This record gives sequence, C-alpha cells and structure tokens, in this order.
Amino acid sequence: MTKIRETSAQTLLRVANQTGTPCYVYNETTILRQSRLVLEAFKHHPVKWLYAIKANDNPHILKLIQRAGIGFDTVSFEEVLLCQHFTDDPRQIFYTENSMSDAEMDAAIRLGVTLNIGSLKRLERFCDHPEAHECCVRINPAIGDGHHARVNTGDSESKFGIRIGQIEEAVAVAQKSGKRIIGLHAHIGSGIKEPENLIAAMKVLLELSREFPDLQFINFGGGMPTPYRSSEKPFDMARFAELAIKLFDTDLKNRPDGFHYLFEPGRWFVAEAGFLLTKVQTIKDQLETRYLGTDTGMHHLMRPIIYDAWHDVVNLSKFGEAADQLYTISGNICESGDILAFDRLLPEAEMDDILAFCDAGAYGMTMASQYNRRALPAEVLLKSDGSYQVIRPAQTAEETVAEFLAKCGFETETHHQKK
Ligand SMILES: Cc1ncc(COP(=O)(O)O)c(C=O)c1O
Repeated sequence: MTKIRETSAQTLLRVANQTGTPCYVYNETTILRQSRLVLEAFKHHPVKWLYAIKANDNPHILKLIQRAGIGFDTVSFEEVLLCQHFTDDPRQIFYTENSMSDAEMDAAIRLGVTLNIGSLKRLERFCDHPEAHECCVRINPAIGDGHHARVNTGDSESKFGIRIGQIEEAVAVAQKSGKRIIGLHAHIGSGIKEPENLIAAMKVLLELSREFPDLQFINFGGGMPTPYRSSEKPFDMARFAELAIKLFDTDLKNRPDGFHYLFEPGRWFVAEAGFLLTKVQTIKDQLETRYLGTDTGMHHLMRPIIYDAWHDVVNLSKFGEAADQLYTISGNICESGDILAFDRLLPEAEMDDILAFCDAGAYGMTMASQYNRRALPAEVLLKSDGSYQVIRPAQTAEETVAEFLAKCGFETETHHQKK
C-alpha cells in the first residue's frame, strides 16, 4: 500500500477502467523528481547524466527525460537510431557496444555517435576503420554488484569490458593507428546492493585513467538501485554525491578544461514511476494455494521470472481493506512458471478486481514479448497536471495476428472471411 504514493489508487483505477487492462502506467511527477535529484546533487561539478534507455524506451518517456536535461545511453544500434529522433548532435548519444557487428560499427562511425568499445578485438577493428577517429573504451574493473547474479556486469569473469591487464595493449593499438581514446567507462551492474562497490570501481577507473593520454571524460555507468521491497532502504543519492564529489575534487586538479564525468542509470529514473495494471480473471484453490489469475503475465513483466524479482502488488479495487488473504498471482501464459508473485497478503479478492504491480516502470515494457502470440499492453503517461495520455495503445488480438501473418508473407484474411 505504501507504494501508491505520488500516484493515487483512484487515479490508477480510473485509467484501468477507461483504457482497459493490461496496461502500463507511468507517473511523470516521479520521473521528473528522480531527474531533479541527480542534477541537483552534482550541480556544482562537471557531471553529465545519461538515461539508459533499455529501461524504458517509450518515445514519450525519452522526450520527457531529455527535456529534464538528461542525455541518452544506448546499448544497441537500434537504440541509437531511436535516440536520433531526439537530438541533432550524435555525440550526445553514448553507444556501448555488445558483440557489435562490422556493419553496426560502420554505421555508428558514420553517424558520429560516441562509441564505447568493450573488447580488444573490436577496438582493433575500430582502429582499422578509415573514418574512425576517437572512441571510449569499456573496462572490466573486476568489481561487480547487482540485484541478481545475472545483472552483475563488473566481475572479472563477466563478458563485459576490456580486462585491466589488457589496457596497455588497448592504448598501444589506438596509438599505433593514430586514433584517440577519449573516454573510459565501466558499469559494474544493475541495482547495486552496496554503494561502496560503485565508489571502489570509480577509484579503479580514476587510477587507470592516468594511462590514457587523450582522455576527455570518464563514465562510471549506472546501477543505482530501486527499493522494490518496503524493507529496502532507498539509495541515498545525496550521500553518494558527497563521496563521489570528494573523488572528483581531487581528480579535477590534474584535468584539462572541459573534462567531465558521466553516469548512466536507467531504472533510477523510471522504475518507481511505473505500474502494471491487470484484471483478475479467475480465482481458484489448488490444494493449499489460492491463485488469482490475471490478464497479464511473464510476457509483459519478465522480471519476476528471470531475476526472481519482487514487485509489490496492490488490489486497487479493495484499496485500504484489511490484507488478510494469501494469494499467488499467476499470468495468462501457458507455462507453469508464469507466476508473477507468490504468497502475497491481500484483501479478499473478487473477479474483475484491478491489481497493480508496483515499481514496474523499468525493464517492464522493454522486455515484453508476444509469447503465446499475445498482444502487447497499452502504455499511459499520467501528467503532472492530473491529466493522462495513452502513449502507446494496446495491440488488439486481431492486429497482433494480422501483423504477424503479413510479416511472414501470408494473407491476413481467415478461411472464414475468404468464404
Ligand atoms: C551498460 C549499461 N549501462 C547502464 C545500465 C543501466 O542499469 P540500471 O538500470 O540498473 O541503472 C545498464 C543496464 O543493464 C547497462 O548494461
């Protein structure tokens, strides 16, 4: 219940009733608050903030965050193309490659985005490219963290980044070809549990940066956590800024004009702003387990399945009533693993009640799929002035199937329609 703070239960119910379920709802006020918090905390220092759009790439959300003064962090060529719609200056788009193809590299170089290269082999290819001039390199700092083993990206065994032991070679490769390494980057993981690990990795990067003669910036990645459970403490941005600024004040003494630092969180900006609304479609007892079956599932919200992630669940239709019944909340996908929440204490539920999965603004819709050939849900933005806008309508079942058939080169008419 505590999770419904800036967004009232009545507002969410109204959206569910008017837009239909399932739908994602994002609160603009929360996104703007999160943006202000980071900008404010570092306002006297040369620190730029990028938004890792993989968390939520609805174009309306991108526009909102960009207008708040945040740039874009991307991890695929497709994300780069998407961000191009929002800026005339390609250098403002930071592109961290992952097993990038030659074709993607060539296109990124031609576009002029800031390319962040995470392996020696790829750096060699970059340096061989006649039109390439400068890039950033991603380092594996051998310090990892994250809310789940699958999102720890900084451990020495992880697939990401150039190992510290290969740095000398990386610098030599660039120098030999006359290219410049102008940025250094690391991202230790998502939903960092111990902020000290981020500070430790920052120290590693600052130290290593002395080996790069052409450096113009250091990007320390993202990973600022979201308190998904009420027992978790929110990330103390002000305290983090204090520690980081101490490092920056010392470091800046030996830096050229224009030198700056970057961070690139994703969930920080959007996770708490989002809710996935769903309607109860069935209620049944299977021996000891009482299931609430919903009109959404793992195809719309993957996090509980791939990360054992917790999202608070609120029965909006029974908001404020005593939570004295134990429910397991299941999806509408034909998989026994399609369970979004186990053993939740909720008020006695009825058919057609509207439930909200909280903190679903990050890695919700961007991870959604059409598994079981299901339609994608709508997305709605609640504006700070109290109005709301459907920022992506739901697909209908018919549209979903027709688009699929057409893409595969089939006629969309059914046998029945043809007759
Ligand atoms: C390279 C990179 N930067 C930033 C992020 C954002 O992480 P988070 O949303 O936890 O801040 C990710 C997420 O996985 C990432 O891979």
